[in-house]
This record gives sequence, C-alpha cells and structure tokens, in this order.
Amino acid sequence: MLEIARTAAEVRAFRKRIEAEGKTLALVPTMGALHEGHLSLFREARARADVCAASLFVNPTQFGPTEDLSRYPRDEAGDFAKMEQEGVSFVFAPKDAEVLYPEGEETRVEVAALSTRLCGASRPGHFKGVATVVLKLFNLVQPHVAVFGEKDFQQLQIIRRMVRDLFLDIEIVGAPLVRESTGLALSSRNAYLQGEDRERALGLTRCLQAMRAAAVSGDARGSQALIELGRGVIEEHGLVLDYLDIVDPQTLQPIAEIGGTRSGQILVAAFCGKVRLIDNAPLA
Ligand code: PAF
Repeated sequence: MLEIARTAAEVRAFRKRIEAEGKTLALVPTMGALHEGHLSLFREARARADVCAASLFVNPTQFGPTEDLSRYPRDEAGDFAKMEQEGVSFVFAPKDAEVLYPEGEETRVEVAALSTRLCGASRPGHFKGVATVVLKLFNLVQPHVAVFGEKDFQQLQIIRRMVRDLFLDIEIVGAPLVRESTGLALSSRNAYLQGEDRERALGLTRCLQAMRAAAVSGDARGSQALIELGRGVIEEHGLVLDYLDIVDPQTLQPIAEIGGTRSGQILVAAFCGKVRLIDNAPLA
C-alpha cells in the first residue's frame, strides 16, 4: 500500500518509524507526470534501500515568470497508481505549496558557478529553486540515498555539489537516461509535442548521434567542429537551438580540445515550437 503524506508533520512521523524499524530509506524526488524514466528511478531506489519513498510536487520556485508552471502536466491519481505498482511505499505530495514555502520563509540555496551556464543561463533562478526544494525535501525525509535521472545532467551535478558542500550524509545516485524506441529522451514535456513535432524533436537525438559518430571516427577533432556539425542537425530538423556544448562532466566547463579519452559530455537544449527540450550523451 502506498502511504500518502500531505504535511511536513506526516513526513516526520513516517521518518521516525523508519528510524525505529532500523530500515534504510531511498528518496526519488519528482514533479509527477510520471513516465518510464521515473519508473526506472523507483526501481533503482528499491534496489538500494529497504524502503522507497517519493515526492510529488510541482515546485513553483524553479519556474521563471514566463514558464509553464500552470500548464505543467498533472495527473496525481495516475502517478500514485504508478508508484504503487513500482513498489514505492511512501509519497510526500504536499497539499499545497505553503507546506514547503510557508508564509515568511525566505531561505534560498544556490550552487553558484555550476548554475550559471547552460540551462542556468536560459532559465535564471531555475537551479536556485531546484537546490532549495531538494534541500527542503532532504531535511524533511532524511533519506540515506536519493536517485535522480541523468537526463537532467546539470541538475544532477548541482545536487551532488550541494550535498558535498553542505556535508549532507546522503548518497546521490544518477540513473541512466531512458529513451523511446525512436531514440527520443523521455520527458514529461513530450506530452506537449503534437503531430510532426515528435519527428522534429528527434533532431536532438540525431544531433548527439552525429557528434558522437564524428568524434569516434575522428572526422571532426576539435569541440568547435563537432558543435558546428550538431548545430547543423538541429537546424535541419527545424528546431531552434538554445545551447549545445561539450563539457567536463563534473565542472560543466566547456572542453576546447577533445583528448584521446574523449571524456566530455554533450549537452543540448532546443525549442521545438514553444516546447523546450534537453538531452545529453557522453562523447564516447
Ligand atoms: O527533476 C525534477 O523533476 C525536479 O527538478 C525535482 C528534482 C523534483 C525538484 O523539483
């Protein structure tokens, strides 16, 4: 049975029971609209702890003023059913935003340098909202392990850095990105893609594939040549590029020269109409 908590007090009571029972706890934070990618996170969490908990909260502080907070897909009953099916024991689904952001609260968490580039440049304040809500969830739920998808590669690195910098005793696990059979990375925002958009959206996958193939074959050696190649693929698909970069996976700083180990990570964001999609892959 999935236990549903709506208030901070209910979460604390659950946490006390876990402590008393001497069990280990894994947390998967989500904003709902669950797809196969989220389900893979629950499976990973279950494999790593005695009890798997989730959170379901569309966090307002990570949306900019012109972003899609009110339109963000929501299906709470469907999400609870999927959690139950995947063996999630407990979900924290605050009854309203006040539970996490009560009147007068004002503390924000910022992982400065990692948050400024890439998605942080296009979505100012986004990662401050993410780090803040994740820290609030960590403090309430106090998991031993927390699982995040590698789809949100920058977010994962920011959370790892926050946990390290603030001495949190939580193991952060990154779970592999899940793709449709077409290659499209699973995302709650795919629900906005209509008709031909789904084919156009594949431009992101094909951009990554083309860059990886060129890096491996040695056809394009420097980062700039690879990025130009990828940009061409994005444009051929009628997408509008937000950013495309090859970065060091830990620092997220651009890599200028591709060395023999080809250890860089390709990160891309592009608009398909109004829908902003992200994807990433290791260079090799
Ligand atoms: O990745 C997400 O769904 C969100 O950014 C998260 C981590 C649940 C914080 O709201």
